[in-house]
Amino acid sequence: MTQLFQPTLRPGYPDFNDLPWAYPLDDWPERCTRLEEVQRGLSRHPVVFVVYDGTLYAIKELPPGVAQAEYQLLCEMETRRISCVTPVGYARLRSGKDEASALITRYLEGSLPYRSLFMRSHLDRYRDHLLDAMAGMLVQLHLAGIYWGDCSLSNTLFRRDAGVLQAYLVDAETAEVHAPHLEPMLRYHDLQIMEENVTGDLTDLATLGYLSDNLPIHETGESIRQRYRNLWEQITREDVFGPEERYRIQERIRALNTLGFSVREVEVHEDPEGEKLHLRVFVTDRNFYRDRLLELTGVEAEEMQARLMFNEIQEVKAYLSQAQNRSIPFSVAAYHWLEDLYQPVIQRMQPLLEQAQTSETSRDPAELYCQILEHKWFLSERAQRDVGHLAAADDYIQKFGATIR
Ligand SMILES: Nc1ncnc2c1ncn2[C@@H]1O[C@H](COP(=O)(O)OP(=O)(O)OP(=O)(O)O)[C@@H](O)[C@H]1O
Ligand SMILES: [Mg+2]
Repeated sequence: MTQLFQPTLRPGYPDFNDLPWAYPLDDWPERCTRLEEVQRGLSRHPVVFVVYDGTLYAIKELPPGVAQAEYQLLCEMETRRISCVTPVGYARLRSGKDEASALITRYLEGSLPYRSLFMRSHLDRYRDHLLDAMAGMLVQLHLAGIYWGDCSLSNTLFRRDAGVLQAYLVDAETAEVHAPHLEPMLRYHDLQIMEENVTGDLTDLATLGYLSDNLPIHETGESIRQRYRNLWEQITREDVFGPEERYRIQERIRALNTLGFSVREVEVHEDPEGEKLHLRVFVTDRNFYRDRLLELTGVEAEEMQARLMFNEIQEVKAYLSQAQNRSIPFSVAAYHWLEDLYQPVIQRMQPLLEQAQTSETSRDPAELYCQILEHKWFLSERAQRDVGHLAAADDYIQKFGATIR
């Protein structure tokens, strides 16, 4: 049998040469010891997960040439800082007379396919966040000038982010880059497709008996569209105000930062009568606090996790400035936060972090840290005093350590 495996890979990854490329992916289970079973969404194409040195990769088999196109689209999205799975490479495949292609991506650690969010009743509270996350994902793509063409629940993965969810695009096959601007018509199409697909995804789940009766299947897509509209309006609207209200510029920037958007440019112009100011802001991506936290501390986190941690650094700064009766630079406060709060908590939580990843419970240090903060808040409320981070961590381990599966 003539066999061809011609890969194009980014540096720093395995060569994937030892996989049974002579066989279709569907036949790998009996032939490959690197295969792992993970939670996954539905797909038309065969997808397998393989492990090299403790890192998981997803391999998707596609018609000839398609993997390369999808790989390039994912790279484009990465450059534009869209939350998506990380492309590793693609390969041309031939086995006998059959040609195919394979896309290799890094498995998105800690990701939850939507099915598990709907199928587990204790994850109910995440459903509302799921709708926000989907809307946020589409807004980010459209701001970057990208048309998705296949927005669905199955093509999105979700990661926990300090009590809410962050959406990641997993399937870029149909995407098109129209940067810098995406026509309103294409945005409209994307929303139409999203609504149809979401209704389809939920109808499938209902048929399988996984949905509670009161979930409004046909209104869910519309609800995502509404959230999309609100967010789009907040970002792109023009504000008009009097010259004495200049503070509103800062107010608008802060509001966008709170939503995670970094502001690239602010445009203010006077109307011809000189009575009113018109304000427009232009955002880059939705990594505002992530970028700040990484710069200051080297800690990598999702956007809302980073926002919580950044607020804590601000508290540390205020506390130190007051205690030392001088203004403490932000970088100094960040250092103290890392040394005195973040790292000791993570060390204390090490046993939990090392437990096998057998369930949907997060093993992500940043998410666990945020859970400890929430737990500390809860204990402190009850005790009517600040119980401290380590006491909260110990109590958390005692309460949830044994039951965390
Ligand atoms: N890098 C990854 N990390 C985690 N899960 C992944 C990854 N790649 C694929 N998956 C899982 O595999 C499923 C199928 O992947 P994908 O949507 O790319 O396949 P597909 O066959 O192109 O789907 P479609 O039927 O929409 O065309 C996803 O829903 C997801 O659960
Ligand atoms: Mg898909």
